[in-house]
Amino acid sequence: MSPYSYKEPVLTLEGVSMSYHGEVILRDIDAQVLDVVRPGMSQGQVVGFYGRSGIGKSVLCRIMAGLITPSQGTVRVGVEQQPVVPGTVGFVQQRYPLFDHRTLHDNLLVAAQRKHAPAAAREQVETYLERFCLTQHRKKYPAHLSGGQRQRAAIAQQLLCSDHLILLDEPFSGLDVAMIDELKKIIVEVTTMDELNTVIIISHDIQTTTALADRLWLLGYERDAAGQLSPGATIAKEHQYNLAEMGLAWHENVEAEPEFGQFVEHIKEEIRRS
Ligand SMILES: Nc1ncnc2c1ncn2[C@@H]1O[C@H](COP(=O)(O)OP(=O)(O)OP(=O)(O)O)[C@@H](O)[C@H]1O
Ligand SMILES: [Mg+2]
Repeated sequence: MSPYSYKEPVLTLEGVSMSYHGEVILRDIDAQVLDVVRPGMSQGQVVGFYGRSGIGKSVLCRIMAGLITPSQGTVRVGVEQQPVVPGTVGFVQQRYPLFDHRTLHDNLLVAAQRKHAPAAAREQVETYLERFCLTQHRKKYPAHLSGGQRQRAAIAQQLLCSDHLILLDEPFSGLDVAMIDELKKIIVEVTTMDELNTVIIISHDIQTTTALADRLWLLGYERDAAGQLSPGATIAKEHQYNLAEMGLAWHENVEAEPEFGQFVEHIKEEIRRS
C-alpha cells in the first residue's frame, strides 16, 4: 500500500438540511472531502455517493453545485473554502441539458471557451470528441443523438468547463460495457490530472463506483431510540467510508480482490437497511 496523507479540505458540507413544503428531505449533513496527497503523484479525489432511489441524492447534488440553497447549512468548495457559487461546479444531471439549437461540436466549444483560450478550447473539444467516440456525430443537434451519446456529450461538456469539482449523477446508466470502461478510464484520468480535482459519482452501480472511489458516502435514514425512522436522510458518520484507510483505494484491479467483493456486499446490505 503506497503512502498517502491529507491536506486541506476541498469540499465541506456543514449542517446541510433541505425541506420542501414542510417535508424534510435532508437532515443535518456534515461531510468533508480532503485533498489527498500521494508522493510523486498528482492524486485527485473520487467520492462514491449512494442511497436508495428517492432519498435525496440529486437534491444534495443540486445543493453542492450551488443551484439551490439549502434550508439550513453551508457548502464550501476549493482550497479557499468559499461558499459555492453556481457555475463553478461541473454537474452532469440525471437529465442532460444541452443547447438544442447548437450542434454537438458547438455545445462542447461553448463550454470549453469558458475555461480555455480559443485555440486551446478547439483542441480540447477535439480530444474529448475522440475520447468519447463522438467525432462522427459532431454536426448533429442534441435531439438527434442517442441517449448514451447525449450522456457522453454532457459529461464531456462539464469536464471542459468546470473548475476542480465535478458531480456525476448516474453517469453509468444507459451506457454499454465498452463505454463504461471508457468512462472509468476518463474518470481516473480526470482525477490524476490535478491533485485538486474531485469527482463525486452518484450511482446505483456499487461495484463499478466503489472500484473508482477513495471515499464513500451513504445517504440513509437513521432510527431514533425507539427504533422509528427519523424524517430526512443524512450521511451518518458510520456511513462515511475511507477506502484508502481500508486499503481498497487506487488498486489497478481491485474488483478481483476478495476483500473488495466482501466490502461491496456489505455496502449493498447497508443500503438495503437504510
Ligand atoms: N423541487 C421539489 N419539490 C418538492 N419535492 C422535491 C423537489 N425536488 C425533489 N423533491 C423530492 O425530494 C426527494 C428526493 O429526490 P431526489 O431526486 O434527490 O432522489 P434521488 O436520491 O436522486 O433518487 P434516484 O436514485 O431515484 O435518482 C423525492 O421525494 C422528491 O420527490
Ligand atoms: Mg437522483
